Amino acid sequence: MGRPLFLYIFLFYWHFLTALFTVEAPQSLFTVERGNNVTMQCTFPVNGELEFRDLSVSWEKKDESKQVYVLHKGEEDFKNQHIDFRGRIKLLKENLNLGQSLLQITDVKLKDAGVYRCVIVYGGADYKTIHLKVKAPYRIINQGVVSTGHNEWKLTCQSEGHPEAEVIWQNRNHEDITDKASTRFETGSDQLYHVTSTLTIKSGIDEIFYCIFWNKELQENTSAILHIAADGILQTESRRFVGAALIATAFIGSGLLLLLCIRKGMQIFYFRASQLLSLCSVNSSLLSRMRQTFTTSFLGPKIKEKKKGFKLVT
Ligand SMILES: *[C@@H]1O[C@H](CO)[C@@H](O)[C@H](O)[C@H]1NC(C)=O
Ligand SMILES: *[C@@H]1O[C@H](CO)[C@@H](O)[C@H](O)[C@H]1NC(C)=O
Repeated sequence: MGRPLFLYIFLFYWHFLTALFTVEAPQSLFTVERGNNVTMQCTFPVNGELEFRDLSVSWEKKDESKQVYVLHKGEEDFKNQHIDFRGRIKLLKENLNLGQSLLQITDVKLKDAGVYRCVIVYGGADYKTIHLKVKAPYRIINQGVVSTGHNEWKLTCQSEGHPEAEVIWQNRNHEDITDKASTRFETGSDQLYHVTSTLTIKSGIDEIFYCIFWNKELQENTSAILHIAADGILQTESRRFVGAALIATAFIGSGLLLLLCIRKGMQIFYFRASQLLSLCSVNSSLLSRMRQTFTTSFLGPKIKEKKKGFKLVT
C-alpha cells in the first residue's frame, strides 16, 4: 500500500529533518466556483537541478483521508487515488524543477471542499495544509407570477446554489415582507440546495416585488424583480374586445347586405333568387352563410313547395 509506506518515510524524516527542510503554502485558502478549475500550490527548497528519483510528493484530502495524488520517488502512482478525484487531477510536473508542487483540480465539485495536505519528501520532509472552499452562487432565479383571484397573487422564486441561502422578500419600497412567504429547501446528491420560495399577497396591478437570495456565508446577494403586470390580463381582455368588435362589424355588415338582398329579392321572382345571390356574393364565406340564411328563411318554403311540386310531378 502506497500511503502507509509514504507516511512512514514522512514520519522518519519528520523527526530528524524538519528544521532543515520546510514546505510553504503561499496561499492557504482557495475559493473556487463549482465547475471551474483550481490550482493549489506548495513550495519546497530545491538547490540546483532537481533529482527526480529523490522526490516524493503527495496531496491528500485531510478530513476524509482521501488520496488525491502521489508521486513516489519520481514516479506517479494513481493506484490508490480516491475515486472522487479520478480523471480530474494533474500535477504540473514542469514546475517541480522550480520547487513548486502545483496541484490542478478540474471541474471542481462541491464535495471537493475541505482541507488538503501537501506533503513533500526531498532530502527532508515537511507538509502544509490548504483550505479549499467551493461555492455555487444562486445565479439564475426562475420566477413565476400567478393570480389566485380576488386581487391575490402567488409569486415564486426558485434557484440552486450552495451553501444554503436565505430568501428575503421586499415590496416596491424595499420593506421586508418575508413573513408572508414560505421557503422550501431540497438537497440533491450533488450537495446543491434547490430553494423555492413562495409569497402569497394581495396586490393591485402594476406592482413590483423583489426576492433576494442571500448567501450569508459568501456574502453574496442575488435578486429578481417580479412584476405584477396588467399585460397578462389585458392581453386576453383586449383580444376578447377585438373579437367582439369583429363579430359586431360582421353582424351589422351582413345585416345590411341581407336587407339589400331582401329588397332586391322582393322585386324579382323567387326562382331567380339563386341568380341574385350569386350576384350579391360568390366567394365570401360570410355572404355565403348569409345567402344560406336568406335562402332558408325567405326562399326556403317556396323552394320546398317547388320541390314538393316536383315531387308531385315525378
Ligand atoms: C479547466 O481545465 C481544463 C483542462 O486543463 C480545460 O479544458 C478547461 O477549459 C478548464 N475549465 C475552465 C472553466 O477554465
Ligand atoms: C443582502 O441583502 C440583505 C437583505 O436586503 C442585506 O441585509 C444584506 O446586507 C445584503 N448583503 C450584501 C452583501 O449585500
